[in-house]
Amino acid sequence: MRQFVAQKIDKVPPSGIRRFFDIAATMDDVISLGIGEPDFATPPAIVNAGVRSLEAGETHYTSNSGIRPLRLALSDHLERLYGLRYDPDTELLITVGVSEALYLALAATTDHGDEVIVPEPCFVSYNAEVIFAGGVPVNVRTSAQNDFQVLSPQIEEVMTDRTRTLLIGYPNNPTGAVMSRDRLLDVARLAREHDLLVISDEIYDRLVYGVEHTCFASLPDMRQRTVLLGGFSKSYAMTGWRIGYAAAPAEVLAAMRKVHQYTIMSAPTIAQYAAQEALEHGEEALQEMRARYDRRRRLIVDGLNSIGLTCFEPKGAFYAFPSIAATGMTDEEFSERLLQEERVACVPGTAFGASGAGHVRCSYATSYKQIEQALERLARFARRHG
Ligand SMILES: Cc1ncc(COP(=O)(O)O)c(C=O)c1O
Repeated sequence: MRQFVAQKIDKVPPSGIRRFFDIAATMDDVISLGIGEPDFATPPAIVNAGVRSLEAGETHYTSNSGIRPLRLALSDHLERLYGLRYDPDTELLITVGVSEALYLALAATTDHGDEVIVPEPCFVSYNAEVIFAGGVPVNVRTSAQNDFQVLSPQIEEVMTDRTRTLLIGYPNNPTGAVMSRDRLLDVARLAREHDLLVISDEIYDRLVYGVEHTCFASLPDMRQRTVLLGGFSKSYAMTGWRIGYAAAPAEVLAAMRKVHQYTIMSAPTIAQYAAQEALEHGEEALQEMRARYDRRRRLIVDGLNSIGLTCFEPKGAFYAFPSIAATGMTDEEFSERLLQEERVACVPGTAFGASGAGHVRCSYATSYKQIEQALERLARFARRHG
């Protein structure tokens, strides 16, 4: 029998994160620093808005673009935050999480063999989704020396005549890096000079600590060449609602909507009503969660550094990305032995790309108390293997 699975799917490895979850799930007393989602439940007012919509009989498909009140709220929200006005009818699309928005952006703009530059370490889906869309991911390595920010000369170095798109994700998963405005301006200059489309995944835009997030599309001349992706999963603790959005120039957005229309139809209806509530009244709850992440961030970064697992200061998202070089182990070995010996789960850095080698991702989207306990266990482990 011939092989039924397409080669492009076959060559994408399964996510390196799941394997550790599967092992951890068979053990008792595991403290997980492996998760990439808020430990908080969705704030009650947002849940209630979803429930109310169900009770009101909102159980049908919506417009392909998403309910108009949500698009209006989103348009206001982006103007308030970034001074960017997107037309709710032609430039905004409500999606099934940023996951779908990312796929739509790539599917709508990538022809077979087009190269998409992707700085890494990065979110596990980026390379895979480029390949699913028929493109070729070209990775650029970032490192702790540059605070895991991507530098424009690095991007320029890998450009060819097939380069079409740059896919960036800051604040970054897994490193917690935030790009400074100046470095983003360098990237913007490059995008202008080489006529690149920039897909900017800003799902963690509201989770920054002591710095300001710069929206890529708000930089001079960038609005017309940027697909801005944003979501509700992280900021409002809404991962299970599966809701996100894309903002882009009308022509690109229409192409994305076409793919969305034929593959998804519309994002979950009740989640759209909940998301509208989040945008209109969710700020206080968001700020409360952000303050708690910040406290945990201080605890984990200081704790890791004092153990000798050197940790660059993450300014965004909810991840620390310490170096584990002091233990002499590979990141895979470290993660596996830490789990077996001390029952702490983290994710090997190489799950996010080759330049994640020598690091592990520790999520601090877990309680302060759990992080304290995890640090005690990590200290014991590091002493034993230092
Ligand atoms: C950088 C990044 N982008 C996108 C996503 C997907 O988010 P969503 O739940 O909106 O699909 C995640 C989830 O972990 C992420 O870390």
